[in-house]
Amino acid sequence: MGKKSLCLLISCVLAYYLYTPLPDNIEQSWRLMLTCAVFRIEMQLASLLEMLGFRPFIFLDVLEVPPTSDENVTVADTLFNNVPVRVFVPKQKSSTLRRAVFYIHGGGWAIGSAAWAPYDELGRQMVQKLDAVVVSTNYRLSPQYHFPTQFEDVYDALRWFLRKKVLAEYGVDPTRICIAGDSAGGNLAAAVNQKLLDDPEVKIKVKIQSLVYPALQALDMDLPSYRENGHLPFLPKYLMVMFWSLYFTSDKALAEAMLTNQHTSVDSSHLFKFVNWSTLLPERFKKGHVYTNPIHEHSDLTKKFLGFLDVRASPLLAEDSKLKGLPLTHILTCQYDVLRDDGLMYLSRLKAAGVQVAHEHVEDGFHGILSFGSPVIDLKVGHRIVNKYLKWLKENL
Ligand SMILES: *[C@@H]1O[C@H](CO)[C@@H](O)[C@H](O)[C@H]1NC(C)=O
Ligand SMILES: *[C@@H]1O[C@H](CO)[C@@H](O)[C@H](O)[C@H]1NC(C)=O
Repeated sequence: MGKKSLCLLISCVLAYYLYTPLPDNIEQSWRLMLTCAVFRIEMQLASLLEMLGFRPFIFLDVLEVPPTSDENVTVADTLFNNVPVRVFVPKQKSSTLRRAVFYIHGGGWAIGSAAWAPYDELGRQMVQKLDAVVVSTNYRLSPQYHFPTQFEDVYDALRWFLRKKVLAEYGVDPTRICIAGDSAGGNLAAAVNQKLLDDPEVKIKVKIQSLVYPALQALDMDLPSYRENGHLPFLPKYLMVMFWSLYFTSDKALAEAMLTNQHTSVDSSHLFKFVNWSTLLPERFKKGHVYTNPIHEHSDLTKKFLGFLDVRASPLLAEDSKLKGLPLTHILTCQYDVLRDDGLMYLSRLKAAGVQVAHEHVEDGFHGILSFGSPVIDLKVGHRIVNKYLKWLKENL
């Protein structure tokens, strides 16, 4: 091969890795493209490791930082009901009880940890800006563990925390507690908040919930947000489908059927009204899209993996009578995100059920940016969404 063709080959490979088509209004697009290139390499590395029999995302463990206290905050890893959590407590003495945030990290129920640098940093910021006690919970991950393990781990840790004795130990005001999470963590936050409503053993009421680009349903994978953003970073449709299906099973048949939106059976048709975007989305998000009624192909899949019809996995499928007891709810959505419409539809349903809601939409935002305002990946849009999140909590908790 001549020098010229070698140069051409190298440029093609570089261009393949570096170039990502992005919407026009995205700022810092070069830095973002570089991040996408790293992400693409990581995905390929993950497939390679999986083929070799390793845990696919094992290399992401480098994102973990130890619990390190500083002059303002005491950080410690501990167990709540045998579930590992990281707790952040302000160092300064307080004459009054403090507010608290119970935080659930994202990562498609498959990756992520309270010890990941961006989540550790978010915990510290919550302490600093809100003078709050922060519990950042872990939970066992797929594909080693499937639904409902993730949900149950989070709920076990939460129940442990929401007791008079434990709250008193941490100096927490029981009337000022928030449950929050992003992405899969937003899914778990929405789900445990619903579960609390009919658990007679938990007497303490949560004051607010904040859901950052949450995943809320796996019934319709052909929403306008999936159609528009299915090829964008950092959550392309194939990856969200993989995360959803791995939440329930390691059987690849579910992911294959989900990709073409043919994974549901006639028995689930009564649930489609809860995810009907043609009635639940605000006009401007429907633009140009035509609603098609679901094709019910795979009754066998629905029977085998009932998980995706379970409200603990798909909080959007809850009845109105259930939703109406929920606390003041904050939802943050991003325009360039396959999960955008999950959040928007939940908002419509909560409003219709009489729940107080607050919505903020990041017009140039994309999935994952809550973790992109940290030393690991530093983007302006990341700082903006973190500030929105903190500001709303400061004013409402
Ligand atoms: C501790 O808090 C002070 C006052 O808010 C701040 O100036 C300082 O940077 C904080 N220290 C750390 C390590 O974050
Ligand atoms: C969704 O809503 C539209 C009306 O906006 C209706 O025509 C359609 O039958 C509904 N489909 C389902 C499955 O609920």
